[in-house]
Amino acid sequence: MFRKVTMAVAALTLTAALAAGPVLAKPVVIKFSHVVAENTPKGQMANKFKDLIAERLGDKVVVEVYPNSQLFSQNKVLEAILLGDVQMSAPAMSVFGRYTKQLELYDLPFLFKDIDAVNRFQASEAGQGMMMSMEKKGLIGLGYLHNGMKQLSSSKPLQVPADASGLKFRIMSSDVLAAQFKAIKATPLKKPFSEVFTLLQTRAIDGQENTWSNIYSKKFFEVQPYITESNHGLLDYMIVTSTEFWMGLDDALRTEIKKALDEAIVFGNQVAAEKSDTDKQKIIDSNRCKILELSPEERAQWVEIMKPVWGKFEKKIGKDLIDAAYSANN
Ligand code: LMR
Repeated sequence: MFRKVTMAVAALTLTAALAAGPVLAKPVVIKFSHVVAENTPKGQMANKFKDLIAERLGDKVVVEVYPNSQLFSQNKVLEAILLGDVQMSAPAMSVFGRYTKQLELYDLPFLFKDIDAVNRFQASEAGQGMMMSMEKKGLIGLGYLHNGMKQLSSSKPLQVPADASGLKFRIMSSDVLAAQFKAIKATPLKKPFSEVFTLLQTRAIDGQENTWSNIYSKKFFEVQPYITESNHGLLDYMIVTSTEFWMGLDDALRTEIKKALDEAIVFGNQVAAEKSDTDKQKIIDSNRCKILELSPEERAQWVEIMKPVWGKFEKKIGKDLIDAAYSANN
């Protein structure tokens, strides 16, 4: 009797399963969280990645992009990746300090003269090696993405470093950036990107440093009367994922995802190059704030006062790495 019932149940289960059709494997979901607007180099790169994956991998992989700090701030996102709450992000180099000191290199003021120099360094063995600098902590870099060179925006005209003395500047959570502003006798405040507009608008802070595309897309230029075209530092990103997620993927799928990501990065870097000019022009055309240029003598003053910051971080970052990066300027 018992055997008969068991066999009947088994037969019913089989019939139900056949009626439901083949069991489809669930797609791999890649949640990509970032903090900037969609019309920025990073926003465009993430959307391109999503589109390429949808086109090529159809229902095997789905990329969901969450812009504008909708899910996590840059400071929280690395932890979220390790917990598996999101799978990818592209934080600024300035926020990796808890996981590796090597990436602080990118915050050193006046290290790279332009983006071509950054490209040369990143393509080198030393530059590529940095992407594995957090492997032991469970994170791996999948690629570099540029935004551009940083400018200084402020409520006061900043022509020489002495003009910034006593002012409060918002910075990302980087000790190098803190040292850079202390060097000019200003007060650095580590604050999330999502708070910058309000802090500037309410005059809780006097200024901040950022690229043309971030100043434009987040409307900082509407609440800052001056921008000094200082090009004093670089805002670059590393696309990161967790080792666990990445190595857990099927080999062929991983290769395809990486290929799409590489193409999206090339696209994002083109957007970055264009936006450095076009977003600057849009700010000029708005007539909302004055753009200050530096004479060679004024620029030399900023270099002279900020560059000694390198010495303070030489040990942590590694002198060899700093030398290799600096030599990419030639
Ligand atoms: C900032 O916090 O100023 C930037 O890093 C934001 C970004 O991701 O470009």
